[in-house]
Amino acid sequence: MKILAFGASNSKASINKSLARFTATLVPHAEIEVLDLADYDLPIFSTDLEAQIGHPPAALAFFDRIGAADGVIVSFAEHNGSYSAAYKNLFDWASRIDPKVFQDKPTVYLSTSPGPGGAGSVLAAAKGSARFFGADLRAAVSVASFYDAFDSETGSITEPTALAALTAAAETLALAEVA
Ligand SMILES: Cc1cc2nc3c(=O)[nH]c(=O)nc-3n(C[C@H](O)[C@H](O)[C@H](O)COP(=O)(O)O)c2cc1C
Repeated sequence: MKILAFGASNSKASINKSLARFTATLVPHAEIEVLDLADYDLPIFSTDLEAQIGHPPAALAFFDRIGAADGVIVSFAEHNGSYSAAYKNLFDWASRIDPKVFQDKPTVYLSTSPGPGGAGSVLAAAKGSARFFGADLRAAVSVASFYDAFDSETGSITEPTALAALTAAAETLALAEVA
């Protein structure tokens, strides 16, 4: 099955991208595509600009990548308790193509941060609104203190509790293939 993974961040060294990528490797028999949000550069959304330019190519491309996937793993970066501006802007543009941005795909939501909160606030917000945006949310996992849990040499989460939670979450996407 095709798994689309991305960090909801435009940081080149995004820890959320690393977490999403690693979790995708835990999905059995996955063909993995990793998006970099830095490749989806867009002006700040406004209804006035939308009236002039319609759906920008970057928003259409993002929407299409979700549409081509069998399952989606997104890991949310937390900026001041909420979404990164880059993700929120891309999401706002994409939601004007169709509010069901996740297109009823089986989806796993993750979050992580360097601190002990593990970006739990943004994950809670994302979970609370998932059904409005067409996410068939199978699992949600926050990984606290990312740099303590992650082995940068292997690109793997090694902290046992987090690894077990991510493995279980990833397997919910494989179940979708059988269902
Ligand atoms: C503007 C800004 C605000 C931040 N606010 C939070 C926050 O509210 N909670 C948190 O846990 N980390 C916060 N951080 C730290 C991020 O968790 C950290 O930069 C993390 O690496 C972001 O994820 P990314 O590497 O995937 O972009 C903030 C970072 C920035 C730049």
